[in-house]
Amino acid sequence: MTAAKRQLKLALFMNTTEYAWLYEKARSESEFDFAFYRDLAQMAERARFDAVFLADIVAVNDRNRGLEAAGHMGNAVVYEPLTMLGALSAVTEKIGLVATASTTYHQPFHIARMIGSLDHLSKGRIGWNVVTSQGESEAAAFGLDAQLDPGFRYDRASEFVDLVFDLWNSWEGDAFLRDKASTRYFDPSKVHPVDHRGKHFKARGALNVPRPPQGRPVISQAGSSEAGFELAARTADVMFCAPGSLERGKAFSANIRERMVKYGRGPDEVAIMPGLFVVAGGTEEEARRKYADAQAATPDSFKLQSIDRYLGGVGALEWDLDKPIPTTAEEGAARLRRRVTFEIDGRRMTARELGDQITSCYGHITCIGAVEQVADTMETWLKERACDGFTLFPHYLPGNAHDFGQLVVPELQRRGIFRKEYEGSTFRDHLGLASPQHPASDRNAARLAGQ
Ligand SMILES: Cc1cc2nc3c(=O)[nH]c(=O)nc-3n(C[C@H](O)[C@H](O)[C@H](O)COP(=O)(O)O)c2cc1C
Repeated sequence: MTAAKRQLKLALFMNTTEYAWLYEKARSESEFDFAFYRDLAQMAERARFDAVFLADIVAVNDRNRGLEAAGHMGNAVVYEPLTMLGALSAVTEKIGLVATASTTYHQPFHIARMIGSLDHLSKGRIGWNVVTSQGESEAAAFGLDAQLDPGFRYDRASEFVDLVFDLWNSWEGDAFLRDKASTRYFDPSKVHPVDHRGKHFKARGALNVPRPPQGRPVISQAGSSEAGFELAARTADVMFCAPGSLERGKAFSANIRERMVKYGRGPDEVAIMPGLFVVAGGTEEEARRKYADAQAATPDSFKLQSIDRYLGGVGALEWDLDKPIPTTAEEGAARLRRRVTFEIDGRRMTARELGDQITSCYGHITCIGAVEQVADTMETWLKERACDGFTLFPHYLPGNAHDFGQLVVPELQRRGIFRKEYEGSTFRDHLGLASPQHPASDRNAARLAGQ
């Protein structure tokens, strides 16, 4: 008997880069049309994705450039993501639903209540992408003169997440009796009000939502700093990342899994799902044509501006797009936490190639090729334990996501590395992660053992 092959996890970003909307076949997340999201989530569910994912910033997304520059951006405004998950939970049945919510601009009780309610509405399919927020427009929207220091933000985030966990544990799973005969609605011995007095928060009382169906809705994170890694190692079930190369993917995965040990967690208790950008075709030429077609819609000046912004001001506005990238680019690359390569096919890239990359996929793992080539790359990353799956970052929506569902998913299924049917019903089931037990069950078990 052969051992079952490791299975890929797949999530779909329902967001694109800021200029993706310019392509004639593209629709944008900021069109405020629920049908757009509904169709996308249902398509991802038919393709048996683990989850759809909504990124977010909690103010107008101007990528720290001001409204003038944001005038061209197709994602300046978006639906509030937790509200969107409520609507999606009613039109999907199996797929996990992940939304980003900030620990810097929310209160723990609100988040515990909203995400707890969503987990009930969706019957256990919710994920919370924990971010600390780093936009200037976000700080301004919440009355701050400048962004809070990253160290402070993570300190607050760490306490925030713990308090949310405690609030979700307010009630044991079987606390509600709803027994008309005895007139007892709930069993007071199964309520565990929090009494939290921390550095950043104080909260007393129980959450006014029963224990979420997953016990703890799935926690995802995408930090890339030391503090971000530590919080993820301690609390995350899913980790998004942009490691750049297979070798760095392996190192990234090993790094997170090693850090988990000191928190008493096993290495398989996290799903590492780097961003993946795919343009697939019947042949590599066809895929390259598709990519070039969509990229032609972004004006040259936007490509140069995007390079300059991404590399933190390297004078790119003066570059010739069709010449090799000047060496000043390296100074910018050194400032970035993710690795940027300026090589392609053994030669120095042109500025246009870099501009296309940044305006299409921000440097996520990039596969532009025939279906088999795309599947080979994905399979290699999985086999080499550089990841547990991927988060598909679409070129444009909805067409690029449809292409993936129709072309690449069947090939992954044929290779036996992706499900044909959902086996469970919760997001944790899809990820193969157990629901944490209520802490009281440990106490009960200890009491019973002592009897
Ligand atoms: C794939 C990916 C998706 C992300 N999505 C968001 C997002 O929706 N909202 C946000 O504020 N930050 C987002 N981030 C940023 C990180 O979650 C994190 O907050 C940021 O990197 C700052 O933390 P750090 O200093 O630990 O890197 C994302 C990062 C990655 C790699």
